Amino acid sequence: MAKDQRMSLLIEDSGPLVRVILNRPDVRNAFNEESIAELTAWAESVAPGGAARVAVLSGAGKVFCAGADVTWMSKMVAYTHEENVRDARAMARMFEALDRLPIPLIGRIHGAALGGGTGLAAVCDIVVAADDTSFAFTEVKLGILPAVISPFVLAKIGASAARELFLTGARFSAVRAREIGLVHAVGVEDELDRMVAKYVNDLATSAPEAVAAAKRLILEVTTGTATSAAEYTIDAIAERRVSPEGQEGMRAFLAKRPPSWISSGSS
Ligand code: COA
Repeated sequence: MAKDQRMSLLIEDSGPLVRVILNRPDVRNAFNEESIAELTAWAESVAPGGAARVAVLSGAGKVFCAGADVTWMSKMVAYTHEENVRDARAMARMFEALDRLPIPLIGRIHGAALGGGTGLAAVCDIVVAADDTSFAFTEVKLGILPAVISPFVLAKIGASAARELFLTGARFSAVRAREIGLVHAVGVEDELDRMVAKYVNDLATSAPEAVAAAKRLILEVTTGTATSAAEYTIDAIAERRVSPEGQEGMRAFLAKRPPSWISSGSS
């Protein structure tokens, strides 16, 4: 098996099966510029009809992914609008490249999938999650937006669940995630590898070109105005990150204190 240790990713390639492991466990696999570049480069390198038949995305350490790196995002106040747009566009390109991967992508989720981590779950074709995983769209708690991930998340969970979960930022369970279509199978963490292996075996008996065509089919049938939506989301997050509220929310998180909009009396 070929192992490729990049700055923030570990890629284990055994030919038909590629394991892509988010590998910044100290910050709970939060992704920054570097992780985005590495994940995008990997996803865009996967060729249709190549040796790889299935990919599994997982996270090293305690959790799958804590979303975008708040330290990195909070520094964007010093960026110009154009620089923020460029940056949000790079993130959008990563999600799109994963969403359109020409082979099936299985998400192996444990611990937590928050913010952009939930977005990563949304671009997987099949998601298995440990029963004690905590999911949430926490962005509004930080004064920012689940913008770039929203087209992918909405395609999975629909507007109704998004209205509740995007606005409250509330944590939800793996069982709830399965009910709303974000997750396909839930089990105890020790069982996750066996559950993933079962999906890998099922996929191995499907015709590779037909599988790639089925993915394209779903995308074509379900998306219409994706380009205009992407432009809107890029501008929306670029603005929120540098807004006073966004900066306050992210600084408060990093300083481990409540943000200014939470009054001292509320819990
Ligand atoms: N960006 C940057 N750093 C992050 C991070 C993020 N999204 N999520 C966690 N970290 C950092 C913490 O600041 C902490 O750093 P420190 O060791 O320097 O204090 C470290 O990762 C460990 O986090 P901690 O909260 O102590 O770990 P935990 O295992 O108790 O909890 C989470 C893990 C993921 C549940 C928790 O970190 C969390 O809720 N993170 C917020 C995620 C979020 O809101 N993401 C959305 C961003 S848009």
